[in-house]
Amino acid sequence: MFKFASLLAFLSVLPSISYAQSQVYGQCGGIQWGGPTTCVSGSVCTYVNDYYSQCLPGSATSSTSTRSTTSSTSTRTTTSTTTTGTGPTSTPAAGNPFVGYDVFLNPYYAAEVKAAAAAMTDSSLAAKAASVANIPSFFWLDTVSKVPTLGTFLSNATALQTSSGKKQIVPIVVYDLPDRDCAAKASNGEFSIANGGQANYYNYIDQIVAQIKQYPNVRVVAVIEPDSLANLVTNLNVAKCANAQTTYKTCVTYALQQLASVGVYMYMDAGHAGWLGWPANIQPAASLFASMYKSANSSPFVRGLATNVANYNALSAASPDPITQGNSNYDELHYIQALGPMLASAGFPAQFVVDQGRSGQQNLRNQWGDWCNIKGAGFGTRPTTSTPSSLIDAIVWVKPGGESDGTSNSSSPRFDSTCSLSDATQPAPEAGTWFQTYFETLVSKANPSL
Ligand code: BGC
Repeated sequence: MFKFASLLAFLSVLPSISYAQSQVYGQCGGIQWGGPTTCVSGSVCTYVNDYYSQCLPGSATSSTSTRSTTSSTSTRTTTSTTTTGTGPTSTPAAGNPFVGYDVFLNPYYAAEVKAAAAAMTDSSLAAKAASVANIPSFFWLDTVSKVPTLGTFLSNATALQTSSGKKQIVPIVVYDLPDRDCAAKASNGEFSIANGGQANYYNYIDQIVAQIKQYPNVRVVAVIEPDSLANLVTNLNVAKCANAQTTYKTCVTYALQQLASVGVYMYMDAGHAGWLGWPANIQPAASLFASMYKSANSSPFVRGLATNVANYNALSAASPDPITQGNSNYDELHYIQALGPMLASAGFPAQFVVDQGRSGQQNLRNQWGDWCNIKGAGFGTRPTTSTPSSLIDAIVWVKPGGESDGTSNSSSPRFDSTCSLSDATQPAPEAGTWFQTYFETLVSKANPSL
């Protein structure tokens, strides 16, 4: 017990001692940013948008972003200093958590889209592009440095709810596992298992919880750790995934339990039809997800699963894409309708959300497993609770369209060869950073059109 208490005391001071300089891919500037504005050697603070400057590998004469804005009123909090809110009730409202709520439009994506539209010369395309800022997408907490920005958005959402009288739901992605993206390279994260990753992850979750506690009047919905559990179903032949198995499960359990304690409605990421929908994978997947649900004490806040996150599959394909041959679950609807009953019989009455943000165009890929900046993709069906199955709570846009899936630069430490396949748009910047030409295609190929 004493050891546990001293560990907590240590973790509560971690942010101030660990982030004197931001790490590679860490945040180093932006509106409301109160953390360090310089980067570790070998990386350069690079302006991404008004909300975010990031340390990217390379060198320059100055290591501080000139366009970053640092605020003197830092919103950075730690678990030891911010627990002022009362928190939500411990029982979730019955039914679909999206119903009766407006999905909060996060200013981070809106700023990216606004800047992108302003850079376009074709005025009709620019007008369509600008309208994307009014379509809700999820805010990815892909580094611990973004957690204070979540606090800002929850505060904004609370104010909007009060002024408009419309209840707000804030959509986030929890995405910072140690040894993240174990079967690929493009989205490798900031924490490693070998170097205190589990403790760092607990601290990351604790910081998210501390922010949410302060704003008990708005609802939060979260997609939990894209790709992680799916990798445990099919990629244990990859050494990094086998090594990560226990840590992933322990960390995801911690996230589910802690976020349930502050009333977050959660959907664990469940890959997509072309991954876990195959006959050999779907039952093992159902067993794993049901066991994770039980490890979170079958909390009703663990509402279900998210599919097709950052992928390109149709919800309901007009006809099967030839690359899906051999899998009767050739689209997300078939996958969900097959998986849902398996989960239910394993004791997990799961509901679903489905990402359709970049699924407007179909039959684009050479192989179903291709996932990186697919050429010719267009924005898809708009977020809605009007869905073709009672198992599906909502069609959502989880991946913010226009942010890259991964770099095509083969000398980057996060280069994944999938991003240089012939169906991947190139040249492409680092995962998560803005990809202007890709965004322009998403806009022009949007279906329905913008
Ligand atoms: C990247 C993240 C990013 C997310 C949304 C992922 O592929 O690794 O950094 O936040 O996509 O664009």
